[in-house]
Amino acid sequence: MMGTEIARGEFGIAGVPRRTIVRGEGAHVWDSTGRKYVDLGASLGVANHGHSHPRIVEAIRRQAGELVFVSSAYTTRPRIEFVDRLLSLLPSQLNRVFLSNSGAEAMETAIKLARSSTGRSDFVAMMRGFHGRTMGALSATWRSELRRPFEPLVPGFSHVPLNDLAKLEASVSDRTAGVMLELVQGEGGIHVADPEFVRAARSICDAHGAKLIFDEIQTGVGRTGRRWAFERYGVRPDILALAKSLAGGIPIGATVTTTGVESKFQGTLHSTFGGNPLACAAGVAALDVLVDERLDERAERLGNVGLARLRGLANPKIREVRGLGLMIGIELRERATPYLEELRRRGYLASAAGPQVLRLLPPIPISDADWDSALGTIDEVLRDGG
Ligand SMILES: Cc1ncc(COP(=O)(O)O)c(C=O)c1O
Repeated sequence: MMGTEIARGEFGIAGVPRRTIVRGEGAHVWDSTGRKYVDLGASLGVANHGHSHPRIVEAIRRQAGELVFVSSAYTTRPRIEFVDRLLSLLPSQLNRVFLSNSGAEAMETAIKLARSSTGRSDFVAMMRGFHGRTMGALSATWRSELRRPFEPLVPGFSHVPLNDLAKLEASVSDRTAGVMLELVQGEGGIHVADPEFVRAARSICDAHGAKLIFDEIQTGVGRTGRRWAFERYGVRPDILALAKSLAGGIPIGATVTTTGVESKFQGTLHSTFGGNPLACAAGVAALDVLVDERLDERAERLGNVGLARLRGLANPKIREVRGLGLMIGIELRERATPYLEELRRRGYLASAAGPQVLRLLPPIPISDADWDSALGTIDEVLRDGG
């Protein structure tokens, strides 16, 4: 197939042809044949700022020419600046951060912080939740086909349905170290947490001395129409996990917490690459772009346009349209894959969130015209058949 190549030695995918992407700019990527696509998935939610944003590219270039890496026995200006910048965009109680390299690591750290600061071992997570694939994060993840091959996992995790207050109340006890949730479940099919549920989760955690953990790895950095989705809920977590687009495409993870959690924490945390100067320099530029270009406001506006238009489609194949900001799921009454294939043929790359949900998570700077034609093409493809 033109524009695809095979990674012959890659574990798990050897022999599987995949499209070769050679360039990205803004909301677009190009494959090796020169074909241009609109990236409606923001490349797994990493390209919130758009691909190769000039300010982020410049920061990476400059930093790479000065210092790519140094031992964490030392600090660096980008590291100090990134931590300052990130904390300045968060409520004052969230004032301690540990830097790592991925979402799963950010969640592992969240688990360690909650366990060590409470002296308890149990966690309540949500059905349909996804938190990563390392052993702790996988234990918090819901889908059994992801978990089963690696069991036994970390003990003490239970799952309740998102937005089921009675089940949450019944599951949290004085043995619970933490309650963890995504405010909009990403991989699980774009399910939005109810404000009452999130507020109740806060009170239940307070009543039992458990930590409230928000996984904002996919919902953070402007995606839901706020810089961080929790701003929409008026509820603050004790522990906040961030990753994906936080450094504009350079791998990073950040777990933010309070001095209260820090003061009770017994163990140590360390990561060779966590907080490296290249990721931090990219992170400073990425946070500046988030603020200066008001990506949150743009996500809110374009998200509302998209949700209204998609909800107005009188198409019996659509079961429900859900979302918050520019994080939208179209749940179909049938499998999403044929429609994703047809969208790709027409120049739009989107991904599924579960077998029947078409997920839209475009780079936030996507132009009004590209967003408009993407929505029009989705309408056509869903009408014409996949
Ligand atoms: C909500 C959420 N948490 C955690 C992760 C894991 O992140 P990573 O793949 O960087 O380990 C993901 C990745 O999709 C995610 O969407």
